[in-house]
Amino acid sequence: MALPKVYVSQRILKEGRDILEGQVSYRMWEGEGAPDRDILLREVQFIDGLLSMPADKIDEEFFQQAPHLKVVSQHAVGFDNIDIEAATRHGVLICNTPDVLTDATADLAFTLLLAVARRLVECSGYLRRGEWRTWYPDMWLGMDTARKTLGIIGFGKIGQAMARRGRGFGMSIVYFNPSPKPEAEKELGARRVSLDELLRISDYVSIHCPLTSETRGLIGEAELKKMKSTAILINTARGLVVDQRALYKALSEKWLWGAGLDVFEVEPVPADEPLLSLSNVTVMPHMGSATLDSRGGMSRLAAQNLIDALQGRRPAYVVNPEVLDR
Ligand code: GLV
Repeated sequence: MALPKVYVSQRILKEGRDILEGQVSYRMWEGEGAPDRDILLREVQFIDGLLSMPADKIDEEFFQQAPHLKVVSQHAVGFDNIDIEAATRHGVLICNTPDVLTDATADLAFTLLLAVARRLVECSGYLRRGEWRTWYPDMWLGMDTARKTLGIIGFGKIGQAMARRGRGFGMSIVYFNPSPKPEAEKELGARRVSLDELLRISDYVSIHCPLTSETRGLIGEAELKKMKSTAILINTARGLVVDQRALYKALSEKWLWGAGLDVFEVEPVPADEPLLSLSNVTVMPHMGSATLDSRGGMSRLAAQNLIDALQGRRPAYVVNPEVLDR
């Protein structure tokens, strides 16, 4: 029997390729960056399964070109690039890769938090430029973490892992989430508050919610104005949750102390993005899950979800189970 046909839209780690080997007949995009849309639309005409990346726009037009497609297995926890409603209508199963990247993403969020708080990148540049000539008591002062309040927007697995890190550093935790999380409240001493209160009382605000129609632009100028002028904003979720122009205004006019950003409205970020000119912003090129263990786990899981769906088993992580259950 012919093997199912699969397209892998960017080169995945060997752990994932080994799982695909012999189970499916697959082609993999080997070019730099994501394949152009016309390439993806051409490939999708022939395939039963796609192993997708967050850069792939998977919408109604895409599904219309894909007569044989049964599954899109996303190599990410977030799936805001996929029109789930259209997928379900077309009977295409959508899978993702949670859990394996929880700790790595929280680690990066906390790394950014500490880097901004202690002005790591600014100080390193100062030293490397040969400007360190003396030591003085108010040189490059930063912010403490102990006894401060960490506000977490989106209290799912990654948000809770961030809270755990904050607790370890002696911070109090508040969170904003559509549903209460009583277990995590008990474990972490976390308190559920309104977004308004979170913004007003937090010394650090870290974003961990998915990008949805409710969270798009959630943090705009009005919300940033509610934050303390000494506060730091961390975003490792999705750039579009924050209004980047408003953030630039807040940071350049100094009514917000600093920001650590791993995600942006447009990625890759254009070199002339105004935020990049600010020294109180620390940036990373969307690296939340970029560790050997996490990316290995994501490759494995994305490949396994794909194969399970194509071989008639229920994949471990399904975003639209209605497709299976109807
Ligand atoms: C990365 O951004 C992910 O959603 O896994």
